[in-house]
Amino acid sequence: GLSKIEILEQKNAEALLGGGQARINAQHAKGKLTARERVDLFLDPGSFEEIGKFVMHRSKDFGLDKEYYLGDGVVTGYGTVNGRLVYVFSQDFTVFGGSLSETHAEKIVKIMDLAMKNGAPVIGLNDSGGARIQEGVVSLGGYADIFYKNTLASGVIPQISAVMGPCAGGAVYSPAITDFILMVENTSYMFVTGPNVVKTVTHENVTSEELGGASTHSMKSGVTHFSCANEVECLNTIKKLISYIPQNCEDTTPPLPYDSKEEETRPELNNIIPDNPNQPYDIREVITGIIDTDSFLEVHQNFGENIVVGFARLAGRSIGIVGNQPAVLAGVLDINASTKAARFVRFCDCFNIPLLVLEDVPGFLPGTDQEWRGIITNGAKLLYAFCEATVPRITVITRKAYGGAYDVMNSKHIGADLNYAWPTAEIAVMGAKGAAEIIFKREIAADPDPEAKLAEKVEEYQKKFATPYRAAHRGFIDEVILPEQTRAKLIKAFKMLENKVDQLPRKKHGNIPL
Ligand code: COA
Repeated sequence: GLSKIEILEQKNAEALLGGGQARINAQHAKGKLTARERVDLFLDPGSFEEIGKFVMHRSKDFGLDKEYYLGDGVVTGYGTVNGRLVYVFSQDFTVFGGSLSETHAEKIVKIMDLAMKNGAPVIGLNDSGGARIQEGVVSLGGYADIFYKNTLASGVIPQISAVMGPCAGGAVYSPAITDFILMVENTSYMFVTGPNVVKTVTHENVTSEELGGASTHSMKSGVTHFSCANEVECLNTIKKLISYIPQNCEDTTPPLPYDSKEEETRPELNNIIPDNPNQPYDIREVITGIIDTDSFLEVHQNFGENIVVGFARLAGRSIGIVGNQPAVLAGVLDINASTKAARFVRFCDCFNIPLLVLEDVPGFLPGTDQEWRGIITNGAKLLYAFCEATVPRITVITRKAYGGAYDVMNSKHIGADLNYAWPTAEIAVMGAKGAAEIIFKREIAADPDPEAKLAEKVEEYQKKFATPYRAAHRGFIDEVILPEQTRAKLIKAFKMLENKVDQLPRKKHGNIPL
């Protein structure tokens, strides 16, 4: 017989093979890595410590009493990424299609509990055929245990979900509750019901990829924050993402060493805003002009593109940036832009990441489509998110700050700590033409040359209000700065704010307009 040591070695070897070599080959043939290969690529070499390697399911129905695999379809444990502790679970499609059993769920919940007690992120690598069909309601209970834990952990520790294969039905709701979702192009999909059910119910013919692939969810629904070309890019993006994020809500992101020789005056910023205020420019140029070289990680890049959000480093410190994007729809706030930015602001506030807002906004998007789908409720989300954020908050108005959108975009009135404006800023109730047409309506109509009168009144309004100075006289703007000074000013300002303490009134929780 085998010695006790040999028995252990044999079991360890068996666990490493998951559902067996044939299924591993099938996984590779689909262009996918195995659960263990993903964990190894993701974590620092040699850092992975597995928990629950020999767990097996407890089902007896439908032949399951004859089919057991060590680990039961999910690899769980902890390790480090760039030396920082993280917990991972990685679903193993070679074991019952990565389907979720009672014990599979228990393994996931176990590492989530550890992560919460020890204050470190949980990274889920999802690749699963859904509920273990043979187990029935026991499996559904397992999902619910995970959802419940995801919700309790929300705002306590960062939770990140990579979808690297199927993720359908109930399975979608754990990723949906977590902070960020990443998907892999062509090999992953997410939907509540698949193409067959869709065909029966709505008579639509749609492929899995169209219905719920990475590009669909990154562009159309916004369900995924990142769409990655392949699995390696996906895992690297998670590593990059967590580099900007602290371990838990009591912590702050470790700063990178800052090379203070990096030029703080950035003359190129002086030339970005076009002379004609109706001409677009790319807000990303402003972002690049301000931040540490190559430090921008854009989130939700393909969704609600009229606003840009993402993480960056400023003098080595992690910050979150929200910028209106004049290059798309003139930078208006619509439903998608508002919800996208609101969620980002709330994430940053959960995890003590200071916020920088770059503002060039002509207002909210008019029209029946937006009104009937609730721009009021959705725009209010962004307003609410800024109002309740207690992290250091700074706004730079580069150009337009019109109407209600001026208030919403992290204005002084709703708690911003410092508000700067460039000399090109226009802070007003609305654009000069619209304003003149309304308030000088009679005068213009009575004039023998209404066109000339309008032009004259537009100019008058522009001179008075299409500047930052009215707001600066009131102290709504703390300083009007040259674009080239922006980086230096922000470095000093965020340093000044680094020990900010601010508290909301005691309450159970607020009621953000969902
Ligand atoms: N429960 C139990 N076993 C499952 C499963 C599930 N939910 N989903 C897949 N499997 C098993 C399959 O029986 C197969 O087993 P085998 O290796 O012994 O043959 C293995 O996982 C791989 O599945 P397969 O269908 O061959 O892979 P695929 O890549 O062709 O298709 C899916 C993947 C997910 C599209 C397909 O398996 C599927 O539709 N699964 C059911 C999805 C579902 O309705 N889940 C329940 C609702 S949440």
